[in-house]
This record gives sequence, structure tokens and C-alpha cells, in this order.
Amino acid sequence: MEDIASNPFLRGGFCVETRPAPCSLIIFGVSGDLSNRMLIPALFNLFHKALLPDSFFILGCGRSQLSDDSFRQKVRESCQKNSLPNSKLPQLEEFLKICFYNRLDYATPGDYQALQERLKQMDQQYPGVCDRIFYLATPPGLYPKIVTQLGQSGLTKEAQDRPSSSRVVVEKPFGHDLQSAVELNNELLRYLHEHQIFRIDHYLGKETVQNILMLRFANAIFEPLWNRRYIDHIQITAAETLGVEHRAGYFEQAGLLRDMFLNHLLELLAVVAMEPPISFDANRIRDEKAKLLRSLRPFSAKEIGKNIVRGQYRAGQINKVDYIGYREETGVARDSLVETFIAAKLYIDNWRWQGVPFYLRSGKRLARQTTEIAIVFRPVPHSIFAPLSPGDLAPNVLFLNIQPKEGISLMIQAKKPGPKICLTPLALEFSYREIFGNEPPNAYERLLLDCMLGDHTLFWRRDGMETAWSLFTPVMEAWEKNPAQYQPALYPAGSWGTAEAENLIQADGRYWLV
Ligand code: BG6
Repeated sequence: MEDIASNPFLRGGFCVETRPAPCSLIIFGVSGDLSNRMLIPALFNLFHKALLPDSFFILGCGRSQLSDDSFRQKVRESCQKNSLPNSKLPQLEEFLKICFYNRLDYATPGDYQALQERLKQMDQQYPGVCDRIFYLATPPGLYPKIVTQLGQSGLTKEAQDRPSSSRVVVEKPFGHDLQSAVELNNELLRYLHEHQIFRIDHYLGKETVQNILMLRFANAIFEPLWNRRYIDHIQITAAETLGVEHRAGYFEQAGLLRDMFLNHLLELLAVVAMEPPISFDANRIRDEKAKLLRSLRPFSAKEIGKNIVRGQYRAGQINKVDYIGYREETGVARDSLVETFIAAKLYIDNWRWQGVPFYLRSGKRLARQTTEIAIVFRPVPHSIFAPLSPGDLAPNVLFLNIQPKEGISLMIQAKKPGPKICLTPLALEFSYREIFGNEPPNAYERLLLDCMLGDHTLFWRRDGMETAWSLFTPVMEAWEKNPAQYQPALYPAGSWGTAEAENLIQADGRYWLV
């Protein structure tokens, strides 16, 4: 039997999971959808895996009048609803013991004083708990109000010996355009330092997104090819079969650009295209991402409508099930011009990527749910397989499958048994489920743990976020000023989007691979 430890090629991985120091998590908006569907189940999973701090409690805050017991009942239901296997039920009762509730009116200063008193009392019960994390799972309009009240009541103050002993987590959308994002940052920074703010983008918490960093920077073979000399173009697709669901109120304001494109898709782009950071340190990684985002070429007025196009779903079928169009959804204006689909061609103006197009596409009610990145390599320079020309040989493509089939596959050409020249593309594949035997953890588990650890690696920094807004704000303004010219083209539910999105890539002699 091979001695694994002594064989450098088989040596096991490097694995570090740090358990955070004692802290408390105070969730504002705890009765909302985000808490119920994502945060509470993720916290329970962390508890079940013994990854929460030894001394830790959750204090849910909201406007409803609830006792600790009735809150625990809600927590129980939310864990059960979110596919809690029976094997975990005994731990659920233990988990409930660290869940508490505090009623609070977001605008009433006295309620924050009462909150502070409650936290002081609870800190006595939980030895060593001094760090506090305030998670704002409320509508974004409340962020400035809550942070102002937290600041004025002294709750955002850091302990002298522990910078960032008080942290604030905010969800997207972070602003509505560049100006509002800058204003919101200024409001938060009146009471917080940048290192106290965690701006969440849940895509970064996905295992397969983090794996891109490992693939690129823990392997020597990819980096030499990762540039304009070998890569023809890159495609990023985030397709959903879901429609607007029950979120019309929010979506009518946001549209797909603010909901998915400007944050999740740009983050994927940044992780794929950034320069190697000098270390796996939050600020060094965020420096590189911010640099990359600053190198994105802005859309000229002429390119809006050509290099960035939008669509809206109309009625159609997905897997033989009928779906209504966006404008028929409850809460959506019958003449809504809000986009549910975007495709864009972007260029990065730096040495590595000059001239390499990045095609990005995202939409709701598309044919299949998938988030995938395709890195398409250049064709061979010369074909020795006459009569085949280089263009006849399908190029190598590295697919990074973010979800739902998490994994990586590399398409190569190989000989098919049979006649002398018989080539066929085949895939060298790594499937997350087959190798690791289970589903990757929910992104919120990683992100919550990182907030507790004070690790900013997977969170947006102010500069990156504002650069993203500055790129797309002129596009949104053009859409708003000229609604007739830029109205979204309709696409049937169950398709891959608009004809314009097809033209956008086909005009360059390429086609969407997903
Ligand atoms: C959210 C968007 O950020 O991401 C939703 O607000 C979208 O509209 C969701 O459905 C998609 O996330 P995931 O993890 O299901 O791809």
C-alpha cells in the first residue's frame, strides 16, 4: 500500500477551519424571509457541525411582540421547513436554547437603550461573549436609520483592545445607483469604520466560487494560460427558472441589473479575471478585485442597446408547465419596463485581457437553472489532421459549474476508437458530489462564520462596490431617460432569453455554450 504521507503527489489536503471566538449575533428583521429561509437554517447547520463559538447566542429583533418561547417556535418551524433531516432533531432543541427575542422599533432611541441593557445582561450569562454582530436583514431603506441608532446608543463602539468587536452586516441591494450607494456608505461610515462593515454577496459564499481561487492560485498549470494569448473569450451565465415569485414590490424597483448583474455576476467576473493577490488575505484579495473592476471598460452611449441588452419574460412553458409573463405577475405594473434578463459584452482594459470579450448573461424564467463560467481557449494554431482545419477542431473549454451540478470540466479533443482520424470532444470532469459525497454547504454558513471570524475576504469593500455602480449607473440612466428606445425585448418563459442576446455573441462569430 502506498504511504500517502511520504508521497508528495498523494499527500492530503491542507484544511483549516477556525472556530470563532465567543460572540453574539443580533438579527434585525428576524421575522423576514431572509432570516427564515437562509440565516436561521444556516446557523442551525453551523451549530450541528459544532462550528459556532463555544459561547454564543442569537438575539432576534423585530417589531412584532414575541416572547422568547414564541420566537423559538418560529425558529423550530423555519429549521423544519428548510429540509431538516430527522437525525438532526435532537440538536434542534439544544439550538433553541441559545435563541432569544427582543422587540424593537427601528426608529425609537429608547428601544436601542433597552437593547443595550438586554445585551449586557445576556453577556453575563454567556462567558467571554463580548463581540457583537448586528445583521441587518431588513429592507435596505432602514439601514441608515438602524446604524444611526446603533451608533448614537454606543452599540457600534469598538473595544479598545479589540478592533471590530462590533460589526454590522448589510445585504444587497446596497444603494440604487452610484450616488445613493456613496451616500449610504457615508451614512454607515459616520458610525462605523470600514473594517466593521460586512457587505454580503451570497454568491461569494458558494463553495464552487471559492474553488475558483484554489483552481487558479493553488495549481501551477492554469495561470500561464490564463490570458489573452491562450483564451479566446469567457462566458458567464446565471440562469434561473424562478420568476419574480412574491418579490414584485422589490423587483419592480431593482430589476435584474441591480438584483443579480451588478453584484453576483461582477463578483464572478472579478474572481475569474483578477490578478493573483500577494496572499490569501482579505484586503489583498479585495485590492485585486477592485483593480479589476476599475479596468472594466465603461459602455459608451452608442454601445448601450448593443453591448448590453435587456429583456423581460412573457408567458411560456418550462418543462411542460405553463408560466405567466412578468407583467401578469401580482404586484407588477401591466406596462412595466423592468428587465428580468440582461446580456452584456464587457472588455477589461489591462495587459492580461486586452481584446478578450467577456460575455455575461443572467435572467429569470429561463430554460434551466444553472450558473456556469466557460473559459474558451483559442483554437490550435495549425492542424496536422488534414483535411480538418484548426477551426474544425472544437476548442478546449474549461467549464466552472457553480450550480446546481457543482464541479469543473475540461473539454478536450481525443481519438475515438475506429478509423485512423476520428476525433471527438470529451470531458475531464470533477464533480463535487461524487468526490466529496454530499452537497456543498449553504453559502450563508460560510458567510456567517466569516463574519464571526472577522474575515472580510468574501465581502464587498467600499471601493469595489462603488466602482461597480459607476460602471452601470450611466446604463440605467440611459434606460430611464429613453424608455422607448431601450425597452426590454420580450422572451418566452422557458427560452434562453432574447434574440438580441443571441446576436450580441453571434455577431462576433461565437455562440453561447450553455
Ligand atoms: C438573490 C437575488 O441575490 O440571488 C434573487 O435577489 C435570486 O433574485 C438569487 O433568485 C439567486 O441566488 P441562487 O443562490 O439561487 O443562485
